[in-house]
Amino acid sequence: MSSKVLVIDDEKNVAFVVTAMLQKAGFDVVTINDSRAAYGMIEAESPDLVITDLMMPEVNGMEILDHCARHFPQLPVVMITAHGTVESAVSALKRGAFDFITKPFDQQELLSVARKATETHRRSRNEPIALPAPSLESDETGTLVNPLVGASPQMQEIYKVIGKIAPSPTTVLITGESGTGKELVALAVHTRSDRVKKPFIKVNCAAIPSTLIESELFGYERGAFTGAVGSKPGRFELAHEGTLFLDEVADMPQEMQVKLLRALQEKEIERVGGVTSVRVDVRIIAATNKDLEKEVAEGRFREDLFYRLNVVPLRLPPLRERRDDLVTLIGYFIERFNTRLGKTVSRIEPRCFAALRSYAWPGNIRQLENLIERMVLLADADMLTYDALPDPVKDAGSGPSGNPTPEEIQDLSNFKDIVRRRMQDLERGFLERALEETEGNVTRAAERLGLSRKGLQLKMKELGIQKAIP
Ligand SMILES: Nc1ncnc2c1ncn2[C@@H]1O[C@H](COP(=O)(O)OP(=O)(O)OP(=O)(O)O)[C@@H](O)[C@H]1O
Ligand SMILES: [Mg+2]
Repeated sequence: MSSKVLVIDDEKNVAFVVTAMLQKAGFDVVTINDSRAAYGMIEAESPDLVITDLMMPEVNGMEILDHCARHFPQLPVVMITAHGTVESAVSALKRGAFDFITKPFDQQELLSVARKATETHRRSRNEPIALPAPSLESDETGTLVNPLVGASPQMQEIYKVIGKIAPSPTTVLITGESGTGKELVALAVHTRSDRVKKPFIKVNCAAIPSTLIESELFGYERGAFTGAVGSKPGRFELAHEGTLFLDEVADMPQEMQVKLLRALQEKEIERVGGVTSVRVDVRIIAATNKDLEKEVAEGRFREDLFYRLNVVPLRLPPLRERRDDLVTLIGYFIERFNTRLGKTVSRIEPRCFAALRSYAWPGNIRQLENLIERMVLLADADMLTYDALPDPVKDAGSGPSGNPTPEEIQDLSNFKDIVRRRMQDLERGFLERALEETEGNVTRAAERLGLSRKGLQLKMKELGIQKAIP
């Protein structure tokens, strides 16, 4: 079921633009230009979200906000403010607005706020967590390409860079811990480039034995070595006019690094046992989960090759640094495994969600994906439960132990950061619990915690907690 949004703006063209953007994204939208009709409309339509302009001749946005706070405390209100009027935006937040957006609109921002707000609202009414409809893309052959899921500021930054660099043939170096989505990003760059109709060829530099890697990359001619009964093009040639993805590039043997560098510089390759060179036009995307600069410093990776590859560096953040994406990712994976496994999971037990949110995810998205697959497969009813979680994740749900992990104390200069983060996790745990017990009622939750309503709202904003946790 799509979420319903009530848009209130006396300027017809603003209302029109907002409405069109929301409708296109699948929201059910009701629009009014005369704010005097607002109260009746909210009553009649019971929207999941109200988006209202601040300055309006009859009833203004603040009054609508106050009305909603009093009569529909669960209903999120998003304020439209003119660019530069930060003060009114802040006072709207203090009076309980879910968020604000500034004119002129950024479509991405509007949609991401609207999605967050409606999702929160549904959850606060104890409805199943809304599963975001994945925008599945397909490649030239019609096979579905995994979309990149996640709207956190960190991911938005990544999307921006992808959008900017994709069209040019620039070399890209993607770094990030294991399972953060390096391959998916490489594919995204390829599919957004004008090479999309040409091949995307992957070489896993860690998986090919060093004796075979040269012939894999550059191909061979008949009789080049024992067993070379025919000739075979290498991955460079196969990727001609397309993209060559050099995965785990840090693990390429040293003598191959020299040959790779030469191929990149000269844009020519020689098949093993061949006599002539072949011109190739490939875009290179390399990836590694190692710290390449450290590999260079310690003499395991050639510095000149590093500079060749590191033209545009793209660092993918670990999942624990962008926990805001967890809801969306979990929803996305549940949906995917529901379809694949013929299941109908549609809810998550609040305690289970809290644990998933606190866990450190050393294996990042891949680990999350595997866990959700297993849980969906084994779920008896339509709910993922705390009991079904593996122990390490359960432990995360019961709060961090006082001890730093071995990784954390590896670098003592992390001290302040980590302590702050732990404290935030602890605070988040209490706040979420209070909101859960009061079914998302901020006033009552604040009372329980001994905070002022305003104080709690500011903390929620700071910790990225939405009004109600499932
Ligand atoms: N933003 C994302 N949205 C949805 N799925 C994602 C996202 N990022 C990664 N995944 C999924 O997580 C899994 C791991 O991604 P990927 O293989 O791209 O990671 P990687 O960084 O290359 O990992 P490794 O270092 O282990 O090779 C894949 O199944 C991928 O589809
Ligand atoms: Mg990978």
